[in-house]
Amino acid sequence: MKIISSNHLTILILIIFLLVFIGCDRDKKESYIIIGQFACLTGSEAEFGQSQDKGVRMAVDEINNSGGLLGKKIELITEDNKGDNNETVTVVSKLINKNKITALIGEVASSRSKAAAPLCQSAKIPMITPGSTNPEVTKLGDYIFRVCFTDSFQAAVNARFAFNSLKVRRVALFIDEKNTYSTGLAEGFKLLFTSLGGEIVAEEKYSAGDKDFTIQLLRIKNKNPDAIFIPGYYSDINLISIQARNNGIKVPLFGGDGWDSEKLLEGQAKQSLEGCYFSTHVSKEDQSPQVQDFLNKFRNKYGQEPNGYAFLGYDAAMLLFDAIKRANSINGIKIKEALAQTKNFNGVTGNITMDHDRNPIKPCIIVEIKNGEFKYKETINP
Ligand code: PHE
Repeated sequence: MKIISSNHLTILILIIFLLVFIGCDRDKKESYIIIGQFACLTGSEAEFGQSQDKGVRMAVDEINNSGGLLGKKIELITEDNKGDNNETVTVVSKLINKNKITALIGEVASSRSKAAAPLCQSAKIPMITPGSTNPEVTKLGDYIFRVCFTDSFQAAVNARFAFNSLKVRRVALFIDEKNTYSTGLAEGFKLLFTSLGGEIVAEEKYSAGDKDFTIQLLRIKNKNPDAIFIPGYYSDINLISIQARNNGIKVPLFGGDGWDSEKLLEGQAKQSLEGCYFSTHVSKEDQSPQVQDFLNKFRNKYGQEPNGYAFLGYDAAMLLFDAIKRANSINGIKIKEALAQTKNFNGVTGNITMDHDRNPIKPCIIVEIKNGEFKYKETINP
């Protein structure tokens, strides 16, 4: 007598297969903490996005190789927003709704962090940005954090540096007018520099990606400034500096952390930016064990030099993992509370303590471009 017909057998196999499959999927979900990342892996600031990503991946690998977090492995899901605000909304919505991330890391650029923040805030997903310095970013809600200083501080550092160290009194501003980071930094600089007794003799505008800056540069030249403050991104600064020198402008140019890329000095800019300055987050000349260990690990892993955004990406990820550990939970509310309570976190970009507005209190560094290289000049404490 046949106990099981072939039809029954097929159904039975199907049921067993389904059970195993569902079981595996549940196992996977239960044994992983899913962390999202969005970054400009392509587009005009790709150098910064890729640096962020390398720093974040290094942190994830370290944690996973040392046993994971809360007994689980971290699964990192990274999306490229192509350096675009609309694309940011698309990919971050996908990470939140489809991938069900526990927390989000990104972005370096303030405008894109501002595009993502409201989505995280309303979904109660903690978000931590490595490099967005614009003050408005963390004002978008109590789930939004950063590991870098803010532009209120960075602007004041530049104003003091110009007034006290460069000893200039007449400064021209050249602003990337559609970029929140640039307009915010320029505004902050203007406030403090004039309150110190300095004068803003010209205020010219450009748009990221422009190729010809001659008209504005000549207008600036006519005002005869002692120096020009350009709070922009490295890809534009490279061209602006070459055109400034070609048009007979000899005074120092200076700016903020948007300059901090080896690509800044490509081609003729090596000469045109000689004797110029910018403020940033970390110096590779810093001999502290944190910085030197990070440098060695990074060089070994990727066979290249990190820039400041790799350091910050690493800190953003490590600080988030530390908060998850302290929260002892993957619940968004608990992680957000742990992040807010961060005190004396020993990061590779310095010691991090969150203030009441979820902004770290940390020093800023001034770099001088000397003999075609970035040279540490001074550290300015908050
Ligand atoms: N601090 C800059 C910002 O907030 C970081 C940045 C610079 C990002 C340059 C991209 C390119 O936007």
